[in-house]
Amino acid sequence: MGSAVWSADLEVGLLWQDHQHKRFFVIRDQLARSSKLEDKRSFKLALLQLENYVQDHFSLEEIYMNQSNYPGSADHFKEHQIFIHKLNRAKREFKLYLKELAEEGYTGTNPWLDLSLDLEIWFVEHINGTDRRLANWIISHPVQPT
Ligand SMILES: [Fe+2]
Ligand SMILES: [Fe+2]
Repeated sequence: MGSAVWSADLEVGLLWQDHQHKRFFVIRDQLARSSKLEDKRSFKLALLQLENYVQDHFSLEEIYMNQSNYPGSADHFKEHQIFIHKLNRAKREFKLYLKELAEEGYTGTNPWLDLSLDLEIWFVEHINGTDRRLANWIISHPVQPT
């Protein structure tokens, strides 16, 4: 199981953003559980959920950045790309582990908990810095309905 849990300290003050950030921790727990049990099917499903989640969540933040003319959007976008990169690398490494596991004599350990911890640390730092700055901007520059 990862180390961080959702807490009010992580709230950035925007309902939709906080709600979506909470969901990250739920998926992270599903990944950790199924990886521990080496339940490949459930792990695959949770990974798919994480990929969909990341796409939806990052796109929504990026839409808000564009619509509110957020001055930090280029840097924020770059950080999202770094996470996608990390996630793809974690997927590759875990796949390799499963392949090696299927081969006789493999004694390596399940790498998912370390991989997932790296994603989680990134996420918590991102929420506390980059996302919080965006939330403050959106709150003080509300997007007008069209
Ligand atoms: Fe973000
Ligand atoms: Fe976010």
